[in-house]
Amino acid sequence: MANTSMIKNNSVEKFVERFGFEKCVFDLLKFIEKDNEKVKNTLIKKYLGESLSAEAEEEMIEYFVNNSIFSSATIANPATSVVTELLYKRPEVSHPIDKYFLASKSGKAIYSRLNCVEKNLHLLIEEYLKKKSDVLINNFGGGLSRDTIDVFSKYYQDNENIKAISIDRDSSAVKRGKRLAIINGVTDKTEFLEVNIMKYNPEEKFDIVLVVGVLCGMPPETCTMILKNIKGLLGEGGCVVASNASPKMLEEDSFTYFIMENILNWKLIFKDEKLLKDIFQKAGLKWQRSFADEYGFHNMGIGN
Ligand SMILES: C[S@@+](CC[C@H](N)C(=O)[O-])C[C@H]1O[C@@H](n2cnc3c(N)ncnc32)[C@H](O)[C@@H]1O
Repeated sequence: MANTSMIKNNSVEKFVERFGFEKCVFDLLKFIEKDNEKVKNTLIKKYLGESLSAEAEEEMIEYFVNNSIFSSATIANPATSVVTELLYKRPEVSHPIDKYFLASKSGKAIYSRLNCVEKNLHLLIEEYLKKKSDVLINNFGGGLSRDTIDVFSKYYQDNENIKAISIDRDSSAVKRGKRLAIINGVTDKTEFLEVNIMKYNPEEKFDIVLVVGVLCGMPPETCTMILKNIKGLLGEGGCVVASNASPKMLEEDSFTYFIMENILNWKLIFKDEKLLKDIFQKAGLKWQRSFADEYGFHNMGIGN
């Protein structure tokens, strides 16, 4: 991060002005300043790339862990569905750090991504139903499989020919997903398996494989390897929908990503559409099209 002598005494006003941050950054820093000025100073110094003592840095991380559900869940398990679920359900949260995550563009983009994935999943299912009578979906690293469950409960309650298998290595996500399916009346169409995606070798072949929020932290070579394996799981005419965080997130909401990477230890490897397309092609998949959330922070490629 750029060092600048303009930000005298770690002034929140100057800092926010210098980098053109959104009001939610100002509100967060102003709250922390009042609550624990030392932590606010450490945050600004860290952003500016100044050297910090181990003590100051640990105090800042403890502050986030002790006060914020988002922070403690992420530090314990980066990319956990606990965090995506909070961003999907958007509950009333009490601490300003959690309010910040919900108000940030990156937080809102995750909610928007869910809506766009659901819209496109519905469109894809309708396309398959024109060609065949049954549709089998796999949700790869599906978490609670909220996207699939929402689409099933909204459009396909009475259709016995549409089914999904959701796989995730997180046993808690699998248990919560099963309950979400019960709550939404779609247990007959939704199966959950506690499996590592790297070891998954099913007998079934799928029409649609969703990989959402799974590849963002992985290097291109690993994404290629995973998509290559998924290609082997596709039935005739089957397709993959794979999401990735785009560099636009870093460009337009660098403060949130700064917190994610430096405080919550959640590193993303941003991929623009060109790189995503390249990954699909190297995995042997033919690029069909892509869609994005309303902020353009996540690109979802579709290939077969
Ligand atoms: C950010 S969440 C996204 C969940 C869901 N796809 C969604 O869009 O809401 C990422 C999920 O991928 C799962 N995951 C990551 N690596 C995995 C692996 N190697 N095997 C199985 N699941 C994995 C995590 O447990 C987590 O539930």
